[in-house]
Amino acid sequence: MARPSISLHLCLAVLAMAAAASEAGFYDQFDVVGSGNNVRVNDDGLAQQVALTLDQGNGGSGFSSKDKYLYGEFSVQMKLIGGNSAGTVTSFYLTSGEGDGHDEIDIEFMGNLSGDPYVMNTNVWASGDGKKEHQFYLWFDPTADFHTYKIVWNPKNIIFQVDDVPVRTFKKYDDLPYPSSQPMMVHATLWDGSYWATRHGDVKIDWSQAPFVVNYRGYSSNGCVSSGGSSACPAGSDAWMNTELGGKALGTVAWAESKYMSYDYCTDGWRFPNGFPAECTRN
Ligand SMILES: *[C@@H]1O[C@H](CO)[C@@H](O)[C@H](O)[C@H]1NC(C)=O
Repeated sequence: MARPSISLHLCLAVLAMAAAASEAGFYDQFDVVGSGNNVRVNDDGLAQQVALTLDQGNGGSGFSSKDKYLYGEFSVQMKLIGGNSAGTVTSFYLTSGEGDGHDEIDIEFMGNLSGDPYVMNTNVWASGDGKKEHQFYLWFDPTADFHTYKIVWNPKNIIFQVDDVPVRTFKKYDDLPYPSSQPMMVHATLWDGSYWATRHGDVKIDWSQAPFVVNYRGYSSNGCVSSGGSSACPAGSDAWMNTELGGKALGTVAWAESKYMSYDYCTDGWRFPNGFPAECTRN
């Protein structure tokens, strides 16, 4: 009679594990964007890993959080497309939606020909204005291994980090637009950005290299979940809610800017013939 009792225990244990896994499960946290066939999930609960694929005609794919957040800290590890990835764009970003006046915080990776470097685009949209790019080459090969990319968004500033190295802060000034009232969802996507991504659109996707595959794992969020006009901040939010970059961190930003920056909107006079945006001349 021991046997049934053991299998009952096993059975309960398996049920408990299934319940725990489904609580943190991918499809409970995220909606699939685009074609579900192009979103492959290895959902073992702990090392949840997602592969996005892009092939000709699928129009891109990805996933977006079911929760909306008003401030938070969001990170994911990504291993970018190797070889000829020109024309592809791989993203990890927050957005309040598509409409005019939307807010958005972007990390986007613009692919390149084999051997040529990826560019990481960072951008902030506030009330529909999104001409605020800082772009960087990376100090490692982002296709060789997973690296961690993080967005910290709080009422004082937005911080972009690569492997815990801050490369940019976008500060809030009370008289200038800043994403502070529109809740945002977290998105991760892979799409054909041939029209602008690589050498300003000169190099298109080579579909003979398809399917293109990017891997995400270790997604982590600690954000104030917004619903019905109010938002609730989780335990641990103190750690990022008041974070601003100080001496040492500003040093890494300066290092990234001087060694790896490939584009700064605040120096693009062609784009702003009537003067740079106000934040460009503030400190
Ligand atoms: C691609 O490589 C070229 C040549 O090194 C470089 O100028 C460019 O910034 C790279 N990245 C993109 C996205 O075009």
